[in-house]
Amino acid sequence: MKHFLNTQDWSRTELDALLADAARFKREKAGDALKGKSIALVFFNPSMRTRTSFELGAFQLGGHAIVLQPGKDAWPIEFNLGTVMDGDTEEHIKEVARVLGRYVDLIGVRAFPKFVDWQHDRQDSVLKAFADYSTVPVINMETITHPCQELAHVLALQEHFGSSDLRGRKYVLTWTWHPKPLNTAVANSALTIATRMGMDVTLLCPSEDYILDPRYLGWARDNVAESGGSLTVSHDIVSAYAGADVVYAKSWGALPYFGNWGPEKPIRDQFKHFIVDEAKMALTNNGVFSHCLPLRRNVKATDAVMDSPRCIAIDEAENRLHVQKAVMAALVGSHDGRDS
Ligand code: CP
Repeated sequence: MKHFLNTQDWSRTELDALLADAARFKREKAGDALKGKSIALVFFNPSMRTRTSFELGAFQLGGHAIVLQPGKDAWPIEFNLGTVMDGDTEEHIKEVARVLGRYVDLIGVRAFPKFVDWQHDRQDSVLKAFADYSTVPVINMETITHPCQELAHVLALQEHFGSSDLRGRKYVLTWTWHPKPLNTAVANSALTIATRMGMDVTLLCPSEDYILDPRYLGWARDNVAESGGSLTVSHDIVSAYAGADVVYAKSWGALPYFGNWGPEKPIRDQFKHFIVDEAKMALTNNGVFSHCLPLRRNVKATDAVMDSPRCIAIDEAENRLHVQKAVMAALVGSHDGRDS
């Protein structure tokens, strides 16, 4: 049984097929690819785009989505094995995943890090537990990566450049300041998919503290070896932006301070000038700007950048609907619905 946990688990041919299907779903909104099928959307964290686009996407393809928020409108779930469940959790993932599998055809999971211990969070244990115990395919709706966002981002770039071939494009993933230390998921994903598509990728961040986890740098290097392109880490704003075709922004907390955010805050606060503004965009090759959203205006990017015709963030957000239809349609036939 196939899951959609990371794009790195899928071949380039499979990803290209998903993107082609997504483009088709964008042209033909309604269909019956999910007729009689259902998906449980399990949200441990808030969402606007992901929830809306999954629910609507299932509906438009003849299916049905059910949103569950453990600890809010569903029982809190235990993930530890062999634990005496005399605390706050009410049922174990072993039961949750298998029971859902008796009702629905797909399970989507959003589970952000706890922001206490990166060595624990980097195991992605909630998503993996769903995948381990589920009898139906599991979709990552953002944990420590965000593969649905990756596909939506790539589709928006392909549309903008008028070609499915993004090789040779100069791509800058820039860190930006934010008052809170945020998840690295979208940054990990941007690095992964931009290198997978063979672009010349620069990871621009203020210092070594803000370099991403070695797993994702490793994936990026593997992708460069396979797809061509390049990977550069830079702390220099001007040279990173120079000649860029794509600027993708995201804020994230420095991994060496994970769970010890007090000392990280004054360091992070030195780098507010990483904001994406018109002066930086003027250094690019008439480049496009995008962001996964939500975005704090005039913190991560200025009003002028967000309101510019070069901003494709809204296209990318729309594409979440189309790519997720493609993912759901691809996965829904790949299991027989029985417990193993
Ligand atoms: N980009 C994204 O996942 O948006 P939401 O957090 O609103 O779902």
